[in-house]
Amino acid sequence: PCRHAMTIPQPEGAELIERLLAATALRDAETPIDVACSGGPDSTALAVLAVASGRDVTLHHVDHGLRPSSGADAALVKDLADSLGAAFVGHVVEIEPGPNLEARARAGRRAVLPRGAATGHTMDDQAETLLINLLRGTGVDGLSGMSPGPEHPLLGLRRSETHELCALLGIETAVDETNAEQVFLRNKIRHRLLPLLAELSERDPVPILVRTADIARSESAFLEEATRSEIGDVEDVAVLRQAPWPLAARALRRWLSEGRRSEAGAYPPSEAELERVRAVIDGSVRATELAGGFRVARTAGRLRLEHSVSGTLRQVTDPRESEIPPAWAAHDLGPVVVSKDALRTRIAEMGEAISNDYAESAPLLVGVLKGAMHFISDLSQAIALPVDVDFMAVASDGSAAKTSGIGRIVKDLDIDLSGRHVLVVEDIIDSGLTLNYLRKYLGARGAASIEGCALIVKEGTMRVEQDLRYVGFEIPPTFVVGYGLDVAERYRNLDSIYTYIGEGSA
Ligand code: IMP
Ligand code: MG
Repeated sequence: PCRHAMTIPQPEGAELIERLLAATALRDAETPIDVACSGGPDSTALAVLAVASGRDVTLHHVDHGLRPSSGADAALVKDLADSLGAAFVGHVVEIEPGPNLEARARAGRRAVLPRGAATGHTMDDQAETLLINLLRGTGVDGLSGMSPGPEHPLLGLRRSETHELCALLGIETAVDETNAEQVFLRNKIRHRLLPLLAELSERDPVPILVRTADIARSESAFLEEATRSEIGDVEDVAVLRQAPWPLAARALRRWLSEGRRSEAGAYPPSEAELERVRAVIDGSVRATELAGGFRVARTAGRLRLEHSVSGTLRQVTDPRESEIPPAWAAHDLGPVVVSKDALRTRIAEMGEAISNDYAESAPLLVGVLKGAMHFISDLSQAIALPVDVDFMAVASDGSAAKTSGIGRIVKDLDIDLSGRHVLVVEDIIDSGLTLNYLRKYLGARGAASIEGCALIVKEGTMRVEQDLRYVGFEIPPTFVVGYGLDVAERYRNLDSIYTYIGEGSA
């Protein structure tokens, strides 16, 4: 294949370029333009059109090291730059394989690309983005998709058009093998959902979805403006009360995201969390616990976002005499992670929070055996309401110092859940899979609400994000035992929680 100076077949080539350029935003500026170019057909077409628009073009290739061919793609993009008379810059970023790959690759790319670099996203990508966000439970902002403009100049083009241009010009383009793998949600949407939508609706769904995004974008901008003018002070309860709830919720989402941003693993608030903050604003409760060791409290008509009192506890560094483990266990135990005193103080606080939150209607505590045995016992005594208690047991592999992932129910509930406010009481959340499973299982039993309460959450190990209403402690991701937690049924009777350093520990 010819990789030298580009020859444009006449007149079809020039006509196609002209027609496509007219549907882009590339001629709206005369400044130099940075183009993020993977070597695939979309960004290659963008490179060709950017050069054709008469602007000074620099092609940036980002090598993620994820695919064996990515080095070869960099060479392809360099050749493309040469043949177009554009400049070329190659970047390398390290992305570890693992969960959230697409999002992390995107973040890695963003970090090295110049600000404002243009990408080759087309109308088809816009439709996919909208569906992805829809499946994530987004509001109107997520439905807005990408904004047309200098960073996304090809949103007016179809993917078929960028491919047509590359084919007509005989440009060799990279095949992104990850595109074919049905791994990423985006690819499943591209190769399965959109064709199915086309078949069922007997029309091309892409322009319809894009029209939805256009409407959503305009409404989202309007709401943003209205929120700004209506809610000058997001901490003022009176202001929040008189504002329409959608605007208040919008302001609160931003306030909570920003307030928690400094923490590792910050995430936007869930709708369940927002509802709880709403109860604080309404005055039905004084404070509520949020994920990440935070709480929102109301005093003198103002909201405060604060760390839960002793909510996050990394390591108890100065164990007292009483936390020196008994001789029979000392051999397998490292430092104390949560001391007996810290457990007592924190569980009392959690009991008080639960008593406040459920004052109207006492919860049914569902303990997960056996790990939660001491916790549910102490917690239930710290709740000043007529709670009911029931237990479930989920089988796990039990012997090794690691989580098995998912189990099966070996002991089911005795009490009927219909209309009950259920609070699932867990010992420790590692991957979150057990709790996720239980939530789904219990969810089908007609409970009025199901919330989660965990004594301990390990930092950064959750594979299924859980909205936990109450969290006792966040600890580093090491294996721990004591206060109900076991290795092969041992150590549950320790009164503090210790790092396990015995057989099978990492
Ligand atoms: P998940 O499903 O990965 O969240 O695992 C939760 C379950 O794994 C807990 O209920 C415990 O039974 C067990 N587990 C996870 N981490 C530990 C630990 O550090 N010590 C003892 N058990 C643990
Ligand atoms: Mg266990």
